[in-house]
Amino acid sequence: VLDIRKLYGQADVFTYDPGFTSTASCDSTITFIDGDKGELWYRGYPIEQLAAKSHYLEVCFLLLYGELPTQDQLVDFENRVTRHTMVHEQMHNFFRGFRRDAHPMATMVGVVGAMSAFYHDSTDVGDPWQREVASIRLIAKLPTIAAMAYKYSIGQPFVYPQNELDYASNFLHMCFSVPAEKYNVDPALSRAMDRIFTLHADHEQNASTSTVRLAGSSGANPFACIAAGIACLWGPAHGGANQACLEMLREIGSVERIPEFIARAKDKDDPFRLMGFGHRVYKNFDPRARVMKESADEVLELLGIANNPTLQVAKELERIALEDEYFVSKKLYPNVDFYSGIILEAMGFPTSMFTPIFALSRTVGWIAQWKEMIGDPQNKIGRPRQLYVGADKRDYVDLDARA
Ligand code: ACO
Repeated sequence: VLDIRKLYGQADVFTYDPGFTSTASCDSTITFIDGDKGELWYRGYPIEQLAAKSHYLEVCFLLLYGELPTQDQLVDFENRVTRHTMVHEQMHNFFRGFRRDAHPMATMVGVVGAMSAFYHDSTDVGDPWQREVASIRLIAKLPTIAAMAYKYSIGQPFVYPQNELDYASNFLHMCFSVPAEKYNVDPALSRAMDRIFTLHADHEQNASTSTVRLAGSSGANPFACIAAGIACLWGPAHGGANQACLEMLREIGSVERIPEFIARAKDKDDPFRLMGFGHRVYKNFDPRARVMKESADEVLELLGIANNPTLQVAKELERIALEDEYFVSKKLYPNVDFYSGIILEAMGFPTSMFTPIFALSRTVGWIAQWKEMIGDPQNKIGRPRQLYVGADKRDYVDLDARA
């Protein structure tokens, strides 16, 4: 805490907290993390129970409205989401404006931002009904948009949503069906996909959620705010870690090379970090990583590739790191991204789709947090202060007088 009277001559005090390591930006009733115990609750329900007993759309309802739905509420909610899975035909042109080799996250930032131009009324964020419709549209359309970004990147035609399929199966269908052959969705893989969505659905005030809140605090259009969240999520220190993690595991390649990479992660002169390890809040196991590890075992067993070398490297890397003095002393444990890529790769996704899948799963969390903020009469525009350390006041020097 600094006394800024010395700096600015004002009778005021502020905290200087780079990276917001100890500053709460809001109060919230949505998600709770106990980083020391390694616990995560959505609206009070532990993530392990939701991953085992619930499913993604039910979790979406819980995050948005605060309670688990009754049977009727769930059916109504699923119908409302299903009604909005199609995107406007004109949006196809947006995709076609991108290079084929664009990263799907880049495409998604652009296309989701462009939705604000299709749904003008959503800019009226003071209207609760507009907020509700925008929420449903986003949850419904993000899988379609992510799948379209993927199809475009591999040069295949877009696959339209099939509304008789559940949310996860429909996403797999839109990614893997081709005109001549409908993808046969295995219920176990669909269940694993749904669990990945559930585990990523919200995570309190992480960088991308804070970005959505900050963007939304000015009253900006919700689609534009979610586009800002997608942009923030993309970075390798955040959602981009799932792609970076699988690429690292592949680079390690074999169990014998693990000590070399552990040594690099400990070397302060080497910028290399073990991707999928460490977390700002968890100083214990990330509970999502445990569920993800079980899921990876199940999926690889189901696909008959339980001896997958990447999974073997991941498990051995985890074992060695958890016994290593450096990782123990810094409380660095596997996070959600450590095993998710292994599952997604086994399902047939390229690494470039890992972060888009994170983005579509997290959309409900962003929206729930945005709605909570906009609906709060105390909401103020977010406006951090700074500690100015630049030049003192000085006079302009004419060009010909400069040294
Ligand atoms: N490998 C090696 N050392 C690490 C790692 C790692 N993965 N993570 C942190 N450290 C070390 C740092 O070098 C630092 O050491 P020091 O005290 O000697 O300086 C110490 O642990 C603390 O690290 P910070 O970067 O200060 O911790 P912060 O809370 O700011 O960062 C982060 C958290 C960004 C997640 C970090 O652990 C990291 O870069 N991990 C790898 C990327 C990753 O997996 N990101 C996904 C996070 S989960 C998510 O967004 C879904």
